[in-house]
Amino acid sequence: MSSKTKLLSELCHLDYDAVAAYEATLDRIEDDNLKVKIREFCNDHRDHIKSLNELLIQNGEEKVTGTDMKKILTKGKVVIADLMGDSAILKAMVANEKVTSEAYEKALEKDDLTPNERSVIEIHWQDEKRHKQWFEEMASAY
Ligand SMILES: [Fe+2]
Repeated sequence: MSSKTKLLSELCHLDYDAVAAYEATLDRIEDDNLKVKIREFCNDHRDHIKSLNELLIQNGEEKVTGTDMKKILTKGKVVIADLMGDSAILKAMVANEKVTSEAYEKALEKDDLTPNERSVIEIHWQDEKRHKQWFEEMASAY
């Protein structure tokens, strides 16, 4: 595995972790108005997994099929499942979006990405910045 495909696979693991954190959030959060957006964002992460796996296959690598042992998110599924109250959950998600947006931002520094790979990562980065901003707004409104 090259350092590039290692990076793509790490991002894919991270997106799997994010989906798990979103699912825990959807289980725990009380305000139904918040759920619509959170479901939409969760689907963005599922799309990220699909796109990254396509890139891995194009590079002759195996698809990533789930999370790995190395948890990167600071407020993963297990932490969120134990939180009480929408405010605490929203704040935890802000921390997670920070991790995912920084991971994508850092990935763009890699200089051997093809234009297509770069544009996929760029789109994911934009998604993460959008998620982070929304969770920040909601967390401060609560
Ligand atoms: Fe996100």
